[in-house]
Amino acid sequence: MTEERIVIRRAGPLHGEVAIPGAKNSVLKLMAASLLADGCFTLTNVPDIADVGIMADLLTAIGLRSEQVQPGTMRLVNDGAIVPVAPYELVERIRASINVLGPLLGRCGRVSLSLPGGDDFGSRPIDMHLKGLEAMGATFVLRHGVVEASVRTPDERLHGAEITLEFPSVGATENILTAAVYAKGTTVIDHAAREPELADLCNFLVAMGAQIEGIGSPRLVIHGVEPGSLHATDHEVVPDRIQAATYLAAVAVSGGEVVLRGARGDHMEMLLRRFHEMGPTITASPAGLAVWADGRLHSIDVATLPYPGIATDYKPLLVTMLAVADGVGIVTENLYPGRFRYVEELQRLGADIRADGHHAVVRGVPRLSGAPVRAPDIRAGAALVIAGLAADGETTLTGVQHIDRGYDDLVGRLASLGADIERVVSS
Ligand code: EPU
Repeated sequence: MTEERIVIRRAGPLHGEVAIPGAKNSVLKLMAASLLADGCFTLTNVPDIADVGIMADLLTAIGLRSEQVQPGTMRLVNDGAIVPVAPYELVERIRASINVLGPLLGRCGRVSLSLPGGDDFGSRPIDMHLKGLEAMGATFVLRHGVVEASVRTPDERLHGAEITLEFPSVGATENILTAAVYAKGTTVIDHAAREPELADLCNFLVAMGAQIEGIGSPRLVIHGVEPGSLHATDHEVVPDRIQAATYLAAVAVSGGEVVLRGARGDHMEMLLRRFHEMGPTITASPAGLAVWADGRLHSIDVATLPYPGIATDYKPLLVTMLAVADGVGIVTENLYPGRFRYVEELQRLGADIRADGHHAVVRGVPRLSGAPVRAPDIRAGAALVIAGLAADGETTLTGVQHIDRGYDDLVGRLASLGADIERVVSS
């Protein structure tokens, strides 16, 4: 059996410019929301990642047609022939498949959805999604791993509701939002998630004709429109702040001077502040972000929080930076239990990290040392690549398929900046 690997060797400072692709966690939601209206949607700045292909397959199974018009441009055609069934073979491959629930329930009044899989870093329940939709008139029955959803109102249409989320869950906010656009009356989502990708979804829905107030705030007010009245639209996907942070981390551990074309500093303010405390100089301009780094990083303490806090998806990058920083840093994970599984892989590279429950204590060492490692999920995989840039000798990374789920040519982009990195196929 052949397996792809990424081979990384320590290189000198990085120099040049990279374009930041569209965000995985936006494009997948926009694609799902295209179930809401008939017509032809054109999405631009679409990242070339595996999850986009899986979501396209899922939407095809439901009744849409998708094609890549040119690199970065996708056309989705919805002619209304929708079968609201999301089959297990596709759903289990991608967490964001849960995002078809809101649009299908709002549009068709019923859905049959296998429970989603996703990343291997702990339990990821959907109770808040279901509770919110129940308040709008939906009922759910779980049978044989399949959630059967229906709307038990006289006209089989969801109705508006006042919903306060216990936690600003991204997925729950998105599903309630996309169901509410066709509901009768007004839905209020309090304590809503406010990630930039969620605002991107709101703007997409507004361009389709939805009525949404409070975009970007923790209180979304959605005035339902007549069923069938939304229309297709064209939209440019918001740049990926997590991919941008990955290139910042690469420069932080390698030194150098790089421009991230298209990166949105205003979507990463808290992170940029913390990076700055660690040493690198980052400046924002309308064209993107410029980063300059030289010398050893300084340790900081950091805790993950919902936006505008430090995203949990940045954390493996921060732990990697702390692993080679001067001093001791304490990292606290507030979103997922057990999202420290990659720590053992970093330890193989010589990192001094003690992780227990939600906390990790990272004692920086001057140098890591290259070794074979395996990517356990997308973000940890990318962080191990960055660790490889900071390690003497050769680091060989397997589990490359995880990185391909969310990174558009990470290896090619890093190589273009002067990193010593390549993909190899070995048996
Ligand atoms: N939660 C519940 N019940 C729910 C929903 C969430 O307990 O009904 C809990 C989760 O178990 C978790 C926390 O709330 O502990 C956060 O979950 P959230 O719903 O906000 O996350 P998500 O929508 O499942 C998205 C991203 C993740 C990212 C999180 C947090 C997508 C497809 N995924 O997940 O991204 O970590 O928001 O920002 O958008 C990734 O891209 O690698 C990734 C994992």
